[in-house]
Amino acid sequence: MKKIVVLISGSGSNLQSLMDATSHDLQAQVVAVISNQPEAYGLIRAQKAGIPALSLSTSAFANREAYDAALMGMIDEYQPDLVVLAGFMRILTAGFVKHYAGRMLNIHPSLLPKYPGLHTHRKAIENGDSEHGTSVHFVTEELDGGPVILQAKVPIFPDDTEKEVIERVKAQEHNIYPQVVQWFVSGRLTMVGNHAYLDGQCLPPQGYVNE
Ligand code: GAR
Repeated sequence: MKKIVVLISGSGSNLQSLMDATSHDLQAQVVAVISNQPEAYGLIRAQKAGIPALSLSTSAFANREAYDAALMGMIDEYQPDLVVLAGFMRILTAGFVKHYAGRMLNIHPSLLPKYPGLHTHRKAIENGDSEHGTSVHFVTEELDGGPVILQAKVPIFPDDTEKEVIERVKAQEHNIYPQVVQWFVSGRLTMVGNHAYLDGQCLPPQGYVNE
């Protein structure tokens, strides 16, 4: 069974979808959940599932390099096959990204390359976009810039609030993230150079798209 470490900062609804999927189609085990926020609700979700739930707060560390080195040590104790960022709201150092190159995934709430960074739903609404979405991608040194594997689109309706769009996007995230993780753990998905490959086929720049 392949081993996954999940990094979170918040509510952990994506973590929940991954843990739930391990009792169904996802042939992997979540071996640890680590948060940079000790209060993250996702840690409680992990505890409820009997999974080691650890927090590593940034306050004890002088800089990003020191924090990331400690985080790496914590993760590597579990010898994961894959590191899954699920709402982990930190910018990672180059050394950290290199260490997990080709075996670290992120989910970002936008149709990348549109809207890297924060407040993506708000930006989409403010720009009058009629659709928004989410992307699962390999993590590279460029923020939210690694090769995209799978995207899902959602509509934005004229009277939508930011909260409604966030929830609509999350519902799609809960489908596509376990799917991509399953591709990875079954050996179908790899990163070569700066490209994602599924079943030996180089994926297009925006990955596959679920309309
Ligand atoms: C998700 O929507 C994820 O796409 C986003 O944080 C949310 C976490 O929700 N990630 C980022 O913005 C990363 N740049 P969750 O804690 O309920 O899974």
